[in-house]
Amino acid sequence: MSQRVARFGTTIFADINALAGEHGAVNLGQGAPDFDGPPEVLAAAVEAVQSALNQYAPGIGMASVRQAIAAHAQRFYSQRLNPDSDVLVTSGATEAMFAAILGLTDPGDEVIVFEPVYDTYVPNLIMACAAPRYVPLRGEDWRFDADELARAFNRRTKAIVVNTPHNPTGKVFSRDELRIIAELCLKHNVLALTDEVYEHIVYDGANHVRLATLAGMAERTLTISSLGKTFSVTGWKIGWAMGPAAMVQAVNQAHQFITYAVAAPLQAAAATALNLPLGFYENLQSNYQARRDRMVEILRRAGFKVFPPQGSYFVMIDWRGAAPRHVQDDMQFARWLIEDIGVACIPASPFYHEADKHLGRYFARFAVCKKDETLEAAAEQFAKLGKT
Ligand SMILES: Cc1ncc(COP(=O)(O)O)c(C=O)c1O
Repeated sequence: MSQRVARFGTTIFADINALAGEHGAVNLGQGAPDFDGPPEVLAAAVEAVQSALNQYAPGIGMASVRQAIAAHAQRFYSQRLNPDSDVLVTSGATEAMFAAILGLTDPGDEVIVFEPVYDTYVPNLIMACAAPRYVPLRGEDWRFDADELARAFNRRTKAIVVNTPHNPTGKVFSRDELRIIAELCLKHNVLALTDEVYEHIVYDGANHVRLATLAGMAERTLTISSLGKTFSVTGWKIGWAMGPAAMVQAVNQAHQFITYAVAAPLQAAAATALNLPLGFYENLQSNYQARRDRMVEILRRAGFKVFPPQGSYFVMIDWRGAAPRHVQDDMQFARWLIEDIGVACIPASPFYHEADKHLGRYFARFAVCKKDETLEAAAEQFAKLGKT
C-alpha cells in the first residue's frame, strides 16, 4: 500500500453500516434515501438502456445533459453558463471535487476547508499533495469567526472549499457569510470550489445562495452539484462541475484520465430529472420539511439537544442529555445507540482532523432522508431510552 493512502483507514460509514447490520438497528447513518426517485426519471433511464444508449458518452458529458445543467442554473440562480464550455459531467460530486483539486492545485498549495468537513475533501487534498487548512464552525448555528478565516488565507492559499447546505451540520451559509468569503477570495486571488449537492433541500424558508453569483465570484468559482440527493438516486453517481471555461477545462484535464466518461443511460435520465417542473422541487422541499420536523421532534423527545438544520439530509445533536454515564465520547455513543437502543447514527469526530477531534466529541449526526415508517421505527426504538 502506498504511503499516500495508508493512513486513510476505512470510512466511518462503512463501519457504522456493518455494525448496524449486525445488530439489526434502524439505520439513520448514511445519507442515502430508503425510497426511490421520481418514476419518470427511473423510466427515462430504462428507456435509455433499451434505446441502445449503452456505449461511451462524450468525455465532457452528453450535450442534452450539459444543456439541462445550464438551464437548471439559469432557472434557479439566473446563472449564465455556456453548456459547451462551462459544464462538465462527472461521476458524482465526489469525482468532480477530486478532479477539481487535481486540476486546479499544485503540490504544496493550501486549500481552506471548514470543519466539521465532509469526509472526502481532505483525502482528496492529500492524494493531490495539497495541504488542508482548517477553519472551525462553532456554536449553535455553526458560524465561522471572520478573523480566524482571514488568518487562514496566505500566499500559499490556492482555493477554499465551501459546502452549502453543509454536511454534517445542516448549516446553510448566509449571503453575508458568503460575502465575507468572497471578499477574502478576491483580496487574495483565491479560487472557490463549492459543493452544493443539497441545494434543493432547505428548511424553514432558508435561501440557498450560490457563491458563484456574488459580485466578482463567477470568474473564480467552480460550482459542483449532483443528481443523487435531489432526485433520490444516490447510486447513480451523476454529478457536474460548472464555472468559467478555463476552470472547467482544468477539471476535465484530470477527469479525462480518471473516469473519462460517465454512465450514458443515467446521464440521459439526468436531463429528464433536471427539467422536471417547479412542482417537483416544491414537493421535495415540503416532504423534506416534514421529515426534518419529525426527526427533530423524535430526537428532542428522546432527550437530546438538537441543532435544527437549515438544509441538507442531516440533523446534528449533542447526545449528553440522554446517554448513560459510561458513554464518554461520540464513538462510544454511536456504538451504544446501535447495540442498546437499536438506532444507527454517525459520530461527528470523524469529520474533524486529529488536532480538532475533541470539537466533535459530543455531537452525532442523524439522516432524515428516510421513509415515514423508518422514522417511526426509530421513534419506537428511542422509546427504550431511560429503560435500559
Ligand atoms: C457534501 C456532500 N458532497 C458530496 C456527496 C456525494 O455526492 P455524489 O454521490 O454525487 O458523489 C455527499 C454525499 O453524502 C455529500 O454529503
